[in-house]
Amino acid sequence: MKLADNKATLSFSNGSPSVDLPVYQGSIGPDVIDIRKLYAQTGMFTYDPGFLSTAATQSAITYIDGDKGELLYRGYPIEQLATKCDYLDTCYLLLNGELPNESERTDFHKLVTNHTMVNEQMQFFLRGFRRDAHPMAVLTGLVGALSAFYHDSTDINNPKHREIAAIRLIAKMPTLVSMAYKYGMGQPYMYPQNDLSYAGNFLRMMFGTPCEEYKVNPVLERALDRIFILHADHEQNASTSTVRLCGSSGTNPFAAIAAGVACLWGPAHGGANEAALNMLHDIQAQGGVEKIGEFIKQVKDKNSGVKLMGFGHRVYKNYDPRAKLMQETCNEVLAELGLENDPLFKLAKELEKIALEDEYFVSRKLYPNVDFYSGIVQRAIGIPVNLFTGVFALARTVGWIAQLNEMIGDPEYKIGRPRQLFTGSERRDIGTVAKR
Ligand code: SDX
Repeated sequence: MKLADNKATLSFSNGSPSVDLPVYQGSIGPDVIDIRKLYAQTGMFTYDPGFLSTAATQSAITYIDGDKGELLYRGYPIEQLATKCDYLDTCYLLLNGELPNESERTDFHKLVTNHTMVNEQMQFFLRGFRRDAHPMAVLTGLVGALSAFYHDSTDINNPKHREIAAIRLIAKMPTLVSMAYKYGMGQPYMYPQNDLSYAGNFLRMMFGTPCEEYKVNPVLERALDRIFILHADHEQNASTSTVRLCGSSGTNPFAAIAAGVACLWGPAHGGANEAALNMLHDIQAQGGVEKIGEFIKQVKDKNSGVKLMGFGHRVYKNYDPRAKLMQETCNEVLAELGLENDPLFKLAKELEKIALEDEYFVSRKLYPNVDFYSGIVQRAIGIPVNLFTGVFALARTVGWIAQLNEMIGDPEYKIGRPRQLFTGSERRDIGTVAKR
């Protein structure tokens, strides 16, 4: 980042002395006002719950232009990555800043493939859960538990440890997610198979059984790989900020990523794909397309607490580019499976059309986000609704790690410790019980 030639001057109407604050510029996007010395100079904090106007860090990994609906991973548009690269290329790019050349690509794919198995002891963690436990509860536990197995890669300040922990997490997430699924199904776990692609391996560990050969469908394999690419990273979203804040205490990478899994579970964030599909199911059950008007009315009624899940975004005030690519993937997968007339997909497209013409959504710049169509694709592939966010966590793990490593490598980083505006009781003494 570089110092801008203009600066910000904060003045007070009560005659307190004004304060000059430096302005910094990045390579693209909004400048920032550096307020690090504000408290020392004024005795005041800034106030920004939800961080609507706060840059918590500098970063060179992912850039979103919310007005244009543009998403860049290390400068490459998501549309090009989703069509010209695969997920492991994207992992390499996010972690290292450049796409791999032929030999780097081969080595990286081999490295990840050879770390896909988990310690045999991991399977015994699952036995503690009820069979109907939500997979995200299981995943949060399993990812945190990884730190108990890899003492040789838990020192976050050791670059070698960070590197091997990154590979282990990227490689093992598909195995852990499929184990959570198999446990719920009461089916045996499937071991990874090294001659399959990353997405192909996940499909086989999810849907294969020891009883017969599992044949990977290349259309589903490609669709899943694209879903992983679309979910890989997204600037300082809630779960990434959680991982950064958790990692800023110096805890091990597995614990920090487990915190990200827990945050992603929320319906306002990664849980929205599950909530969006359940919303479509409910509308369908109540009558389908004819019921959309009634549903939209509910959404517009603030007291209903009903939101159009899969719509709206803190940054995108235009169409989420990932939603467009997800809709294309939807078409491909449904066509491959002969589900072109899938009622939920038709309902989703009709709901989108009506919402995008409705003043309530237009005036608030609410467009479909990545979660609006991802549930339909995953459901068509056979992934159960309650595992959608687990797939999101699988894909986002590389983004969390890249952001965590960038933070640890940033000379400016300190343990994150926000302040507050205190509105509670002033100092008071405890009286006798009789007087309470
Ligand atoms: C993800 O941050 C990321 O990058 C996240 C993510 C990633 O890749 O990491 O992109 C993944 O989390 C996508 C978002 C998934 N969540 C949903 O689809 C849940 C539904 N969406 C909303 O909850 C909401 O849009 C948020 C949480 C996504 C964004 O909320 P903001 O930025 O805090 O905006 P807001 O809630 O202040 O909304 C502004 C207005 C409000 O109305 P008014 O008070 O102005 O009258 O728009 C309304 C909101 O009520 N609104 C919605 C709505 N989203 C916002 N109304 C109905 N349905 C919605 N979906």
